[in-house]
Amino acid sequence: MYEDLNKIYEKCLNCQKCRLGQTRNNIVFSDGVPNPKLMLIGEAPGFYEDKEGKPFVGKAGQLLDKIFASVGLTRKRDVYICNTVKCRPPENRNPEPAEKEACWEYLKAQSILGNVGGITKIRGKWYKGGDNVYGAKLMPIFHPSYLLRNDSRAKGSPKWLMWQDIQEIKREYEKLE
Ligand code: URA
Repeated sequence: MYEDLNKIYEKCLNCQKCRLGQTRNNIVFSDGVPNPKLMLIGEAPGFYEDKEGKPFVGKAGQLLDKIFASVGLTRKRDVYICNTVKCRPPENRNPEPAEKEACWEYLKAQSILGNVGGITKIRGKWYKGGDNVYGAKLMPIFHPSYLLRNDSRAKGSPKWLMWQDIQEIKREYEKLE
């Protein structure tokens, strides 16, 4: 399994399957542990991620680390983190369907859940992954950047919902041996 991940990482290093390959500084493959009970998939690297070659190192990443820490989890020990595309889209625009498709080979090897609907509808619920993730349970959650733009902690707010979700994730995590 690790060998497969290493192979796919090395292939990714020189990838020019889409035009993001021409503007990236670094591919952003993953961070955290390679044999996780818990995996987090973001959308695409931003400015700092592209500079450092590591996912979620900017402001959203710092908030993500706090969210994990609130339930005693850390990326150094408990979580594997990656993105749907491994290269930064210029000006942080959304990745285009063709770019996600080009990158699917890598994400598929790392994870995943198909396209199942809008985030407000699907978040907080468990989905069953396919054979490529050994049927692992998957839960979509809000992006930390969205939480940075929505400061309220009132019941029903995005931050409140994230708190419910991360606690539910921790409960499931604790059931795994
Ligand atoms: N947002 C993402 O979706 N991914 C990152 O790596 C950083 C910010």
